[in-house]
Amino acid sequence: MTATTSIHGMWSTRMAFILAATGSAVGLGNIWRFPYTAGEYGGGAFVLVYLICVAAIGIPIMMAEIMLGRRGRQSPINTMRLLATQEGRSPAWQLLGWMGIVAGFLILSFYSVVAGWTMAYVFRAAGGAFAGVDAETVSLMFGQFIADPEALLAWHSIFMVMSVAVVARGVANGLESSVRFMMPALFLLLVAMVGYAMTSGHFVEGATYLFRPDFSKLGTEGILSAMGQAFFSLSLGMGAIMVYGSYLNSRSSIATSVVIIAGTDTLVAILAGLAIFPLVFANDLAPQLGSGMVFKVLPIAFGQMPGGQFFGTLFFLLLVFAAWTSAISLLEPMVAWLVENRGFSRVRAAMLAGVAVWLLGIASLLSLNLWSDLTLFGLGFMDLCEFVAANVMLPLGGVLIAIFAGWMLARSSSIDELRLGDGVGYRLWWLLIRYVAPIAVAIVLLNAVGLLKLIGLG
Ligand code: PFF
Repeated sequence: MTATTSIHGMWSTRMAFILAATGSAVGLGNIWRFPYTAGEYGGGAFVLVYLICVAAIGIPIMMAEIMLGRRGRQSPINTMRLLATQEGRSPAWQLLGWMGIVAGFLILSFYSVVAGWTMAYVFRAAGGAFAGVDAETVSLMFGQFIADPEALLAWHSIFMVMSVAVVARGVANGLESSVRFMMPALFLLLVAMVGYAMTSGHFVEGATYLFRPDFSKLGTEGILSAMGQAFFSLSLGMGAIMVYGSYLNSRSSIATSVVIIAGTDTLVAILAGLAIFPLVFANDLAPQLGSGMVFKVLPIAFGQMPGGQFFGTLFFLLLVFAAWTSAISLLEPMVAWLVENRGFSRVRAAMLAGVAVWLLGIASLLSLNLWSDLTLFGLGFMDLCEFVAANVMLPLGGVLIAIFAGWMLARSSSIDELRLGDGVGYRLWWLLIRYVAPIAVAIVLLNAVGLLKLIGLG
């Protein structure tokens, strides 16, 4: 018999779980990463593939992660080991949990650096640094900022301390209220920014760029990146959502929660795109602005709009909160494991994990300046971490989760856990998790490494 509660605490209500999981999903991935990756791969076609991945791969895998977490009630590593044993499968399935820890480690190391940029921009906005600036000035400002390792280190350190502090207290305390108020505020502000973008005179151009597919610019790498973005944005494939699922009570419906979480996450990304791209065109910029995009585009708008100093400050502040609630979920799987297997207190576990991530983050921030010449496959350390974690490790973790949930777990177990009966909803999930998700992800991954071409199928 498995436990009905977790030793790490439980969400007080289903709403608390939905808020926390949405807090994990909505973050820099939606507002910082989605627009710049969409811009890199030509807009519409990228967005289309991303949306298909969210619906056909992301939603079923999120259901599977929550289901597995809730059945195991432990850190992803121990959950996978327990469930594999219960179902008479190899304990090697726990490796999935280990890969998730490594992915979380890599992601948080650069995520914290970018969250640091956001914090710095709160102060710039508040100090009126954007008043009347043009595109060239903000771009220069951003360039100078990331060229300064000391400033980046200071912000990265502050953000890591903030994240460790919450995880040390336990995610079920402390997270709920911040998500409950900050998220709707961020959402409203984004809607207001889309409204502002409508006045820019280039709204239609921006929206067309975002929604009219032009497959010529996508390519294999673009498809891989769109899929990776779906995993990254939904926090899937590394156990973050699994560990949150392990704190969910046994009665709550998983499917409804997932539709709410994934729907909100996707809507926020689209709103961010609709707020940013019109401004890109209004300022005669090219959509390929790279990872500095939000920091190079939005300040121009804040510098021009009435009340821009206030709205700019609020925007970057809310973005820091969104990043914070995501960072916490990146730390939680390792911390839960350290508590379970090493007998550490939460405080000690969070500090240890935090220091390790912090050290790795230093390599990321140095790759933007002092170490900018050190590249592998043409990518600096930070870009490499981002590429490998989002486009390779998360999808790989996702396939394994799909295979485990669809093929290793007895059908009766998933019917029992998902509580959808054996109706249309369950059968659709069953089809997606057994066939569509693993096959689609495998094709994209294999295609990306050129394996299909090698064996004459590509
Ligand atoms: N989903 C987060 C975002 O979009 O910013 C990032 C993230 C959090 C990725 C947790 C992966 C994860 F496990």
